[in-house]
Amino acid sequence: TETPAALTILFGATGDLAKRKLYPSLYRLYRKGHLSSGFAVIGTARREWDNDIFREHVKKSVMESTNIQDQIDEFISHFYYLPHDVSDSNSYAELRTLANELDSKYSLGGNRLFYLAMAPEFFGTIAEHLKLDGLTDTEGFGRLVIEKPFGHDLPSAQELNAQIRRSFDEKDIYRIDHYLGKEMVQNIETIRFANALFEPLWNSRYISNIQITSSETLGVEERGGYYETSGALKDMVQNHMLQMVALLAMEPPISLQDDDIRSEKVRAFRSMRPLTLETVNDYFVRGQYGPGDHVPGYREEINVDPDSNTETYVAGKVMFDNFRWAGVPFYIRTGKRMPLKSTKIVVQFKDIPMNLYYRPDDQEMEPNLLVIHIQPEEGITLHLNAKKSGRQLQTTPVKLSYANNGEDIMNTPEAYEKLIHDAMRGDSTNFTHWDEVALSWSFVDVIAEAWRNEKAAFPNYPAGTKGPKAADELLEKDGFFWWPLNMLDVDVCN
Ligand code: BG6
Repeated sequence: TETPAALTILFGATGDLAKRKLYPSLYRLYRKGHLSSGFAVIGTARREWDNDIFREHVKKSVMESTNIQDQIDEFISHFYYLPHDVSDSNSYAELRTLANELDSKYSLGGNRLFYLAMAPEFFGTIAEHLKLDGLTDTEGFGRLVIEKPFGHDLPSAQELNAQIRRSFDEKDIYRIDHYLGKEMVQNIETIRFANALFEPLWNSRYISNIQITSSETLGVEERGGYYETSGALKDMVQNHMLQMVALLAMEPPISLQDDDIRSEKVRAFRSMRPLTLETVNDYFVRGQYGPGDHVPGYREEINVDPDSNTETYVAGKVMFDNFRWAGVPFYIRTGKRMPLKSTKIVVQFKDIPMNLYYRPDDQEMEPNLLVIHIQPEEGITLHLNAKKSGRQLQTTPVKLSYANNGEDIMNTPEAYEKLIHDAMRGDSTNFTHWDEVALSWSFVDVIAEAWRNEKAAFPNYPAGTKGPKAADELLEKDGFFWWPLNMLDVDVCN
C-alpha cells in the first residue's frame, strides 16, 4: 500500500534514540520514495533549539549512519523544531499552530503520528494534552507511537494504559518492540507457515526443546540510571524475549492480519505456565557481571549503586501447558558483557527412535537442529546427518544454510525503518497489543518479586564471559545443554 502523507511529531527529538535510529530510518524511507513530498517532522524537546540547529543535528545523525547522502538537504528541509514543555498547555498551542501550518503547506490531510521517544513518566501527560489541546482534532488519523518501557510492572502498565486510552483508542496505539521489526523475527512466521516441512513437526512429539539467546558485548554504558530501575528481566525478557517465544509457540493464525496474529499470540501468552514465588528459582536464574579484562564490573558503572542487586543477565525456562507444547522447555537467556553480540533461536528436534549409525570420532550423532539467526548475521540453518563418504555406517553432520541478503544495507530495511513505515501505513501487526503487554508483565512480575525479596550473590560472572554457571545447570537438570553459539554459524551454501 501507498504510504499516506503525514506529519510526524516527535517528542524527545534531541535524544539518543532519535539520533541513532529514527532520523536514519526516516531518511532511508525517504530515499526509497516512501515519504515523497508528503511528509514533515516537528521535533520537540526541552532544549531551546531552532529549525537550523535541528536540521544540522538530523543531517549529522544521517551522515553518521550511512555514506549515501543524496538529497539530504531537501530531506532535512522537512524538519521543524519547537522547544517544548510537556506539561504546559501553551507549548501545545504553539505546536498545534505549527502543525496546522505544515498540514496545509505539505497537504498532509491532517494525518498525524505522535512519536514518544522519551522518558515514560511523561507518556500519560503528553497523550492527555494532545487530545485536550486539540492536536488530535483533525480530519486525518492520529496515531500514538510509544517506546518501551511500557510501565515497570503490571499495575504501572495498567495505569499508563488507562491514561493514554483516555485520549487514544487501542487501534491507534502503536507500542514499539523493535525486535518485531527485525527481518528474521518476522521470518519466524514465514519459516513456520510457508513450509510444509516444519509445521507438522512443530510440537512436543518432535521437538525436544527450544533455545533463544540474545547476548550483548556492551555493558550498560551511560544508561546506568535507567538500568538500575529495570535490569535484564524488564529490559529484555518482558518484551523482546517473550515476544520471540510467543511467535514460536503460537498456533497458526487464520490470516496474516494484525488481529488474527495478535489473538494467537495472546493465546500463547495465556498458556504459559505461571510461576509462583516458590517456583521462580526452579525456572529462572540471574547474573550480574563483575570486572573483566579492561572493563569495569556493573557495580562500578556510572549511576549504579556499588551494592546493586540489579541483574544484567537472565536465563529461564518457559513452559506451555497446552496440547502442542506440553513438556517442551523454551529456554531463554540474555545478558550484557557476554563474549559476543548475537541473537539466535535453536529448535532442537527429538532424537531418532533408534540409532543405526556411528560416527568416526565416536561422538554421538547430533539431533536435527533448526537455527534461526536473528543478528548480526541473518539466516536459517538446518543441521542434518548425512552419510560420510566411504565407510558405510558412518555419518557426518551437515548444514543446509540460507543467508538472508544482509549485505545490501540500503535495501534491507532496518527494524525501526519498517516499524515507522508500518505505523504510517496503519499496519499494527508488528506492535504489541495491550493484552500481550499485560500478560507478559504478569508473568515477569512474580520473578521480579521473588528476586526483590532475596539478595543475590553478585557479581557472579566476569565481564566478557558467558554468564553464571547456574544457567548451564538449568538445562543440565533437564538433560540438555546450551548449544554453543559459535558452532551454529550460518555458512552460506553455494
Ligand atoms: C533495548 C534494551 O530494548 O534492546 C537495550 O533497552 C538492549 O538494553 C537493546 O541493548 C538490544 O537491542 P538489539 O537490537 O541491539 O539487540
